[in-house]
Amino acid sequence: EKIEAFRAALLSWYDIEKRDLPWRENHDPYRIWVSEIMLQQTRVETVIPYFLRFMELFPTIADLAAADEDMLLKAWEGLGYYSRVRNLQKAAIQIMEDYGGEMPKDPAEIRTLKGIGPYTAGAIASMAFQLPEPAVDGNIMRILSRLFEIDADIAKPGNRKVFEAVLREIIDPYRPGDFNQALMDLGSSICTPKNYHPENSPVKAFNQSYINETWEKYPVKSKK
Ligand code: ADE
Repeated sequence: EKIEAFRAALLSWYDIEKRDLPWRENHDPYRIWVSEIMLQQTRVETVIPYFLRFMELFPTIADLAAADEDMLLKAWEGLGYYSRVRNLQKAAIQIMEDYGGEMPKDPAEIRTLKGIGPYTAGAIASMAFQLPEPAVDGNIMRILSRLFEIDADIAKPGNRKVFEAVLREIIDPYRPGDFNQALMDLGSSICTPKNYHPENSPVKAFNQSYINETWEKYPVKSKK
């Protein structure tokens, strides 16, 4: 079937080309969570040293919950957007109080934690718990709109759901976390916002806009 061939092509490419990132070393939901929060407004190369230092200073959710505020803000210095780290600690305290110090598995419960929206909840559920949950941010919307000629405006917040529904259909049920991360790597290497060369894509045979030569139209993105 076509969808299975697409998954196989994407995941084989990922297995060879995936970036060695410290939060990919295991499935610890805490590490995945912290990395995703850091990556929200900061580039991967910048995040790596901050992430490693943060894990040394606060190795567990319990350590984060109990951390001294000055130490916490100091560890975040240079990353900016300090509400992110304040929310991290609030959520860590929530996890200690309500979930015995363990990240909940249910995406709906994960989403109730401070600072965690649908994207981050989907990233944690898929990467840490192998649940077939979509993790849709702007990069993933760009990729999906090109692959499937989706005309929904990616600048309209309400359209995230359109892309989540598509990703739910195509996500690999056996390797959902790798599938989501393969899309992220595709978005940072080949399916970039500028200088896009669809002929270099490992999934070009499945790329509707490439096949139909409409790829320059995607993504549809209105000015805000
Ligand atoms: N950007 C956001 N999350 C990421 C991840 N898990 N791997 C690579 N880039 C990312």
